[in-house]
Amino acid sequence: MKTVTPPQSSTNGTNDANPAKRTHFDDKGNFKVVWDSSIDVWWHEAVADVSSECPPVWMDAEDPLFMLYTSGSTGKPKGVLHTIGGYMLYTATTFKYTFDYQPGDVYFCTADIGWITGHSYVTYGPMLNCATSVLFEGVPTYPHTSRFWEIIEKYKVSKFYTAPTAIRTLMKFGDEPVKKYDLSSLSVLGSVGEPINPEAWLWYYRVVGDSNVSIVDTFWQTETGGHVITPLPGATPTKPGSACFPFFGVDVVLLDDEGHEIKGEGEGYLVFSRPWPGMMRSVYGDHERFETTYFKKFPGYYCTGDGAKRDKDGYIWVTGRIDDMLNVSGHLLSTAQVESALVEHEAVAEAAVVARPHTVKGECLYCYVTLAEGHNYDTALITQLKNKVRGKIGAFATPDFMQLAPGLPKTRSGKIMRRVLRKVAVGDRDLGDISTLADPSVVEVLFQHRPKEAKV
Ligand code: WTA
Repeated sequence: MKTVTPPQSSTNGTNDANPAKRTHFDDKGNFKVVWDSSIDVWWHEAVADVSSECPPVWMDAEDPLFMLYTSGSTGKPKGVLHTIGGYMLYTATTFKYTFDYQPGDVYFCTADIGWITGHSYVTYGPMLNCATSVLFEGVPTYPHTSRFWEIIEKYKVSKFYTAPTAIRTLMKFGDEPVKKYDLSSLSVLGSVGEPINPEAWLWYYRVVGDSNVSIVDTFWQTETGGHVITPLPGATPTKPGSACFPFFGVDVVLLDDEGHEIKGEGEGYLVFSRPWPGMMRSVYGDHERFETTYFKKFPGYYCTGDGAKRDKDGYIWVTGRIDDMLNVSGHLLSTAQVESALVEHEAVAEAAVVARPHTVKGECLYCYVTLAEGHNYDTALITQLKNKVRGKIGAFATPDFMQLAPGLPKTRSGKIMRRVLRKVAVGDRDLGDISTLADPSVVEVLFQHRPKEAKV
């Protein structure tokens, strides 16, 4: 334990307020603060006369609870407004059933509290269920790449929830960092944030879960408040890469371009035909924008903005944002489909695919790949990767451009900002607002790695 040394003498309040200059460790490793009576107070003095009771303030179920700004990867951020009753009911219920939370379970969600997953499934859902939770602040690779697994062993975590981007990052270090730890306490592993490619799903299941867990691939959005399409552990037979079936009370519909319902097998716009308790109530300060964004395109439905496929068994496969779809020679393709084919190659840790305008095809595929440890980016690999996509999807989907991406432009919540990648693909430096990127410096690196043939 570091000890804080009491003030030797009260300074005259002229101290530099920069905390870095006011604190240091002395030779013995004790934490020292240079006391500034103009801003510093003793905790025990400050709380001495404060009541330990804090009566709740009664609110209406439809009073605002919070708003979270969702950037979308395009356009002006929207303040997604949630209300008290419905949101809390929905996060409490989805938490309980999606993770099958039982007393005695230890739950660990790696999300940042500042984003929706942290709101719904670090804060509200678990607390409303009185769940025992691990709270984590940090990144999965520091101080070492076994950070999550070490925590799971230490606290005997039984329910774990993270994002495909984290899974893929950790996959690139191989199985050994996972296998060093005893993860036998795990029974449910959750995924959220983007489509999880079957490759990552299987690794999560086999290596992290030792083929003895339920994987819950939970589809939802800031706007939906909580899970809207998800398997239920132990109850839903899963398929790697599918978020499976709607949660209780959610009515999933697939629509074609004209707004006709697609029954049975097919692919279209993912919409919901009924409200559910956790749905957002407005865009803060702009109710009209709320109506236009989510309800105008297909009147009578809530429009997620995602595309999805329904297979012959009724399973839903979310294919990604409609804005991210590619149209190559008249074939509509989802970025997720191509990315999933690329990451099947052992050399590829992560992939991101965007459309680049093409005079003949309309659009062509421009693919970014991040390599797993110990692989080289060379012409042989490029050919293998192009063939992989061609073999999986079809000749029309053969990528025209491949580019090495040491890092991908991601938001702090781990989403790839494809808007930026579309700009890099055409060499356009007019990037717009990139302030929500976790690490804006990756963009310049990408510009430097553009292949020669892309420069025409
Ligand atoms: C995507 C995060 C496929 C989707 C909770 C959605 C998913 C957007 C999945 C919302 C999933 C989230 N499978 N895609 N399991 N989960 N998405 O608002 O495109 O940060 O519309 O909420 O993430 O992102 P948001």
